Amino acid sequence: MTDHAILSGKRVLLVIAGGIAAYKSLELIRRLRERGVAVRAVLTAAAARFVTPLSVQALTEDTVYQDMWSLTDESEMGHIRLSREADLVVVAPATANLLARMAAGMADDLAATVLLATDTPVLVAPAMNVRMWTHAATRANMALLERRGVRRIGPNEGAMACNEFGPGRMAEPMEIVDAIAAFFAGEARKPLAGRRAIVTSGPTHEPIDPVRYIANRSSGKQGHAIAAALAALGAEVTLVSGPTQLPDPPGCTVRRIETAREMLAACEAALPADIAVCAAAVADWRVAGESDRKLKKDGGGPPALELTENPDILATLSRPGGRRPALVVGFAAETGDVLAYATAKRARKGCDWIVANDVSPGTGTFGGNDNTVHLIRASGVDSWPTMGKDAVAARLAEAVAGHFEGK
Ligand code: PMT
Repeated sequence: MTDHAILSGKRVLLVIAGGIAAYKSLELIRRLRERGVAVRAVLTAAAARFVTPLSVQALTEDTVYQDMWSLTDESEMGHIRLSREADLVVVAPATANLLARMAAGMADDLAATVLLATDTPVLVAPAMNVRMWTHAATRANMALLERRGVRRIGPNEGAMACNEFGPGRMAEPMEIVDAIAAFFAGEARKPLAGRRAIVTSGPTHEPIDPVRYIANRSSGKQGHAIAAALAALGAEVTLVSGPTQLPDPPGCTVRRIETAREMLAACEAALPADIAVCAAAVADWRVAGESDRKLKKDGGGPPALELTENPDILATLSRPGGRRPALVVGFAAETGDVLAYATAKRARKGCDWIVANDVSPGTGTFGGNDNTVHLIRASGVDSWPTMGKDAVAARLAEAVAGHFEGK
């Protein structure tokens, strides 16, 4: 399909923030309009110093929205409607200031308010001085936004208007058009439509007494990203999650549990399913006979905790039988001999694929944003480069879709 066919009839809300790259947004509007995209624009006060509202209005052939307090703007189109009546919100240029305000959830002008109020996907094209882009604050803001599902194009590396060189140049208008077309092409492609998936994520908490528990360092980032990636490809996803700080991934039914036994019960209740991905870090053991009263420090020394084995959810779901999902994927968290141990684990648990990751101290796999994994299948091992957990999830979801498409 050509990008004209993909883009024609789509509605883009373009938020233009105040940076020198704003002049490129005029070109972006032209390229989108040529492809049949309805573009509506919001200008920040700073943006209006770089490009005139008149130019933007002439190119979009629509009202330009600038002021949250304008009676005219609000009577024509309230900020809530403005944010909802679009298929995609594009922020170009996305300045360090606007990214920071988005990350902080501020609503101090029309652009920030629209971005806070929207439930439409957002694509940002950052543009700023190289030192601003590489500053720890901007890196943290961008990482947070990406974790929340904000997509990003660029910035590119090169000579900048401020006579410095490095990453910070806004992506070229045609690169942004391509990213927008890729977004809509991905939206249209739902290879897992009609498939049901169960994903486990996060740690389990195994009680010792009413106030203490055994847990581990899993944040749920990897499992939640997999749930979102499968849902983005059209699967009907039940995410069974241990305690995490993460928001529910879009488009998934979320079952929150605490213990391994509750996780198993929630997974079994979600059957039948075509796909199961067990990314949770389930405690192998729990305390036998947990106390229903807080254990007291009564001078008798520390209590001896007797442990008993937890049910193995992955092995249970992999067991042959009528309710076994057609594709069961496990994870293997290893601290040495990753491939050998993970291959043995795949055979022992009876799953179809296993995703091996090194969780040695220093890798940052537990809780971090990146992961380095090997996908082990009957056909062999695929070693993927280190990438963000969202990218690992997207690639795994594509592999799952390819499996069902017979690729
Ligand atoms: O949550 P994050 O901070 O993003 O970190 C991601 C991760 C490191 C937790 C994830 O990538 C990962 O490796 N998950 C599996 C962790 C684990 O418990 O590995 P394991 O090798 O102990 O277990 C092997 C497999 O059996 C896993 O699929 C696990 O979900 C499953 N299992 C284990 C024990 C048990 N009682 N039931 C299970 O289902």
